[in-house]
Amino acid sequence: MSIHSATAIACPNIAFIKYWGDLDPCLHIPANSSISMNLEGLYTRTQVVFDPALRYDQLTLEGEPVGGIALERVNAMLDRVREMAGIATFAAVDSFSNFPISAGIASSASAFAALSLAATTAAGLKLNEKELSRLARTGSGSACRSIPGGFVEWQAGESDEESYSFSIASPKHWDLVDCIVLVSPAQKPVSSSEGHALALTSILQPTRVTDTDRRLGLCRMAILRRDFASFAEVVELDSNLMHAVMITSTPSLLYWQPATVEVMHAVQSWRSEGLPVCYTIDAGPNVHVLCPGGEAERIAQRLRELPGVLQVLTAYPGGPAYLE
Ligand code: PMV
Repeated sequence: MSIHSATAIACPNIAFIKYWGDLDPCLHIPANSSISMNLEGLYTRTQVVFDPALRYDQLTLEGEPVGGIALERVNAMLDRVREMAGIATFAAVDSFSNFPISAGIASSASAFAALSLAATTAAGLKLNEKELSRLARTGSGSACRSIPGGFVEWQAGESDEESYSFSIASPKHWDLVDCIVLVSPAQKPVSSSEGHALALTSILQPTRVTDTDRRLGLCRMAILRRDFASFAEVVELDSNLMHAVMITSTPSLLYWQPATVEVMHAVQSWRSEGLPVCYTIDAGPNVHVLCPGGEAERIAQRLRELPGVLQVLTAYPGGPAYLE
């Protein structure tokens, strides 16, 4: 094989109905289905070069050579791709994200979505959206939601074949905005991969999982009808349920910082005054504050004035992963 390369770009996504806990931790078959929105303007750009001169896989993140767990995860994904393509060549992977990584914005989602598209293309494979979504999922569960565009549902399934994501509405369907409130630049102390493994140590996890189909139905319907009030109710509930599981796990996972709670209080109080706004929080201290596009500027400004808020980024619904 001569040198073959490809470059792909993917957005991170924010989950409205969260994925927390695995049925199969190796393949990332989740305990429950989830719904998310891709985040436009934020991206990971990844180049993969299969080069016969290489004696092992290499990874560069933000311009720095990286080893350890990050390289192991990339190596495992490349092994899958090599097996599918019937090749043995090693690859150099160069990845750059234009947003803070590991701080409650799912950088592993955009990273593994971009990696699976770039690596399969460079290896000469042409996977369809479903196959790519399944492959991205094996790198990081939520990455399977960054393959299709817009508003996306990840059908949990019970096997590798059944567990993949698809669009439920295009990015243009609803001008929803995610005001991403950064309250801490620190990397999260417990990664989501480690966190998923603790989910069942909480007595609340079975109840959360059993009720998921009801919340999924409410969230899907609210998105399709662009019904912000119903959307806000189920999205906040779902985030609170996931954090209730996290906090009551052994050991307890408390991702919130004082400024996280400050933002939660402010959002709930603005909503009670009549503003269309709600929050959702991933495995980190930063808060995703959601609102209709027309309100985004006003809400982002209010958020910037809260104590402990370092930065507010805004993102509209984003498109699918694509090749450069
Ligand atoms: O894909 P992972 O293993 O990084 O898990 C993501 C977990 C949450 O962000 C907390 C929820 C979600 O559905 O994105």
